[in-house]
Amino acid sequence: MSTMSLKNKVAIVTGSSSGIGAAIAVKFSSEGAKIVLVGRNQTKLNAVAVKCSDPLVIRAELANDDDVKRILDETIQKFGKLDILVNNAGISLCGSLFTGDLMRSLDELFKINFRAIVYLTKLAAPYLKQTKGNIINISSISGQRVSPILGLMMYSSLKAALDHFSKHAALELSPHGVRLNVISPGPVKTDILKNTDKLETTNTHHISWDEFASTTALHRVSEPEEIAEFAFFLVSEKAKGITGSVVVHDNGKFLKN
Ligand SMILES: NC(=O)c1ccc[n+]([C@@H]2O[C@H](COP(=O)([O-])OP(=O)(O)OC[C@H]3O[C@@H](n4cnc5c(N)ncnc54)[C@H](OP(=O)(O)O)[C@@H]3O)[C@@H](O)[C@H]2O)c1
Repeated sequence: MSTMSLKNKVAIVTGSSSGIGAAIAVKFSSEGAKIVLVGRNQTKLNAVAVKCSDPLVIRAELANDDDVKRILDETIQKFGKLDILVNNAGISLCGSLFTGDLMRSLDELFKINFRAIVYLTKLAAPYLKQTKGNIINISSISGQRVSPILGLMMYSSLKAALDHFSKHAALELSPHGVRLNVISPGPVKTDILKNTDKLETTNTHHISWDEFASTTALHRVSEPEEIAEFAFFLVSEKAKGITGSVVVHDNGKFLKN
């Protein structure tokens, strides 16, 4: 039975049209939060919106500063406050020294997987101060170890940058009673592989979920709901002593090979 422990909390979840973000939005809504769904694909946003209680749906391109600003503006206009920011949206795009398009992967990943998070965090900080709120950033275990998939060079490097930025931000927010934590998943069954295929010009990186499962110590891939449960714990009162942590939820991928 739900405890409704997020009753009347206002939560922005980026990338909530799909995968991990969608699962977090649905979980937080079931716990009583007022949800701001953010994504680009209207059909997918609609499918998640019907699983949440009266959400605010914002179509936004996170590469665009004006769109990022609009997310905050529309949230405050509708709900008057912000309690939780989940920086989840992300893409994967391959490139290494000898494979794919390294500079394109750097530029595209930088915009979505790093810059947009920094900007949204900066814009949200004054509001989170008022509510003694919470931030969750979704990173990846690949930010902590070099992946055998060489094409993940920039994806991994920018997740490492996100981990470090998050610790700085957590320190600066802590005197204001705002907590910030990072979740670093291993493989999670979402649309990310399909979406990566759409972005790739080379087909060097195709790997199935079964193959990913074999790269983990537990030989499994998580469902998005597992990450959502973890995010719920981290924003709850039970985690009141946790900030600046990069917490791993990876089926033991870090331990393997
Ligand atoms: N799945 C995994 O195995 C795994 C492992 C470790 C870490 N992660 C991280 O988990 C996070 C979520 O990934 P996922 O697996 O749930 O992927 P996903 O199913 O592909 O979902 C990605 C989400 O990000 C949004 N998004 C992407 N680019 C955007 C842009 N330019 N502007 C606005 N929204 C954008 C997408 O929105 P639209 O589709 O509406 O455009 C979608 O809602 C990412 O940060 C990823 O790096 C995933």
